[in-house]
Amino acid sequence: MRNHLNKLIDSVPEGPQKEKFENEIDSYFTLFRRYLSDKAASTSLDWDQIRSPNPDEVVAYNSLKDDTTSNLSKLAVLKLNGGLGTSMGCVGPKSVIEVRDGQSFLDLSVRQIEHLNKTYDTDVPLLLMNSFNTDADTALIVKKYQSHRIRIRTFNQSRYPRIFKDSLLPVPHSYDDKLTAWYPPGHGDLFESLVASGELDALIAQGKEILFVSNGDNLGATVDTKILNHMVSTGAEYIMELTDKTRADVKGGTLINYGGQVRLLEIAQVPKDHVEEFKSIKKFTNFNTNNLWINLKAIKRLVSSNSLEMEIIPNSKSISVGSSELGVLQLETAVGAAIRYFDNAHGVVVPRSRFLPVKTCSDLLLVKSDLFQLQHGSLKIDQSRFGGAPLIKLGSHFKKVSDFQSRIPHMPKILELDHLTITGNVTLGKGVHLKGTVIIVCSDGQKIDIPNGSILENVVITGNLTI
Ligand code: UTP
Repeated sequence: MRNHLNKLIDSVPEGPQKEKFENEIDSYFTLFRRYLSDKAASTSLDWDQIRSPNPDEVVAYNSLKDDTTSNLSKLAVLKLNGGLGTSMGCVGPKSVIEVRDGQSFLDLSVRQIEHLNKTYDTDVPLLLMNSFNTDADTALIVKKYQSHRIRIRTFNQSRYPRIFKDSLLPVPHSYDDKLTAWYPPGHGDLFESLVASGELDALIAQGKEILFVSNGDNLGATVDTKILNHMVSTGAEYIMELTDKTRADVKGGTLINYGGQVRLLEIAQVPKDHVEEFKSIKKFTNFNTNNLWINLKAIKRLVSSNSLEMEIIPNSKSISVGSSELGVLQLETAVGAAIRYFDNAHGVVVPRSRFLPVKTCSDLLLVKSDLFQLQHGSLKIDQSRFGGAPLIKLGSHFKKVSDFQSRIPHMPKILELDHLTITGNVTLGKGVHLKGTVIIVCSDGQKIDIPNGSILENVVITGNLTI
């Protein structure tokens, strides 16, 4: 393996680019060796040692009182922006998908920070961790904000070689081999990339102490001064925002106490016969939102001492090589798994409103609808809504954003909706009002067009029949 990696390094002409690539490949080799030795040692968790976290390891958001703004000068905000919108049928970064009023996730994140800086007369910078997949498209959006009251910094995370599943040898033959030969190694790469890019030192030099990290698609992840102040006053080096589990998110990673230490437990680490216990809402009551508050100097300390060894997540993919499809592996890590390396790390259980991920077009319908109001880039649930968000299930005809947009060009009113299921060849007209439980099922070969201005309340519509 090392010889093959060295050949990749040899393919780069001497210069700063070579040095950067060499460091990247060295880090990859460390990860690869760890993958082999973990596999050989089968380092799985001992289920009997897993406990629910102690009360002081999971703090309720309601118990945080101090919302003064004086600590904002110590803060920087980072959006994880290395991922593509492929699962929603989009080419390009997920963060450029249009969410509201012609604005993308990225535009709205910028608005949030701009508003914060204006309101409190502060200078909180926004950092974007891009990947080689998202960098160019992101640059186009960032350019628009050059003259705005916000400092946007971007840096690229690592670009690691995919390896063939059978031989475990690298897919790329040279530094500039095709894009499918490489991958961004998960958001756990944040720590190394932040240091390698020089951004971490720059932030520390500006007097920044804390980094608020969140997923690019989570518009609920706004700066919260109560959590910031709690972080400062407790001296915690890492805070993970958790939220209460519902039956829809039983697969999310959860905080545990393992041998006296706070850790993140992901479903992939759970032995098969304990999966049901893991999913139960009773033992593990909340899950990781990936809204994280991390001390910058602690990152520097842990990266410098090579201490961060997060669990490796092997992700299988297939790529076309010539006329055949070949299995490849990409070794990834998650930023939340680093919690165990930080001093005084703990969780804060936040309201659900801080977790508004958009993973599917069903989620997109929610955030585009009248259920939420857009306030300076953040989405606030309408005050008149009783209870949480409705359950929305759109079928495969709505998987791609482009199909979703052509089938539902105008968002229906859903303030009084509890449950919506739509499957098959269905379109919604303008000004449709949905209430209670609405189920629209169109069989193969048929088409259902819901006319403009329809009010559907507690109905099941199948074929041409209305029951
Ligand atoms: P995930 O991969 O966990 O979720 O990334 P996702 O982007 O919603 O992907 P799917 O739809 O579940 O497959 C969470 C966040 O981390 C970023 C993504 O851009 C997203 O904001 N990310 C992910 C990176 O920045 N780098 C990576 O290597 C992977």
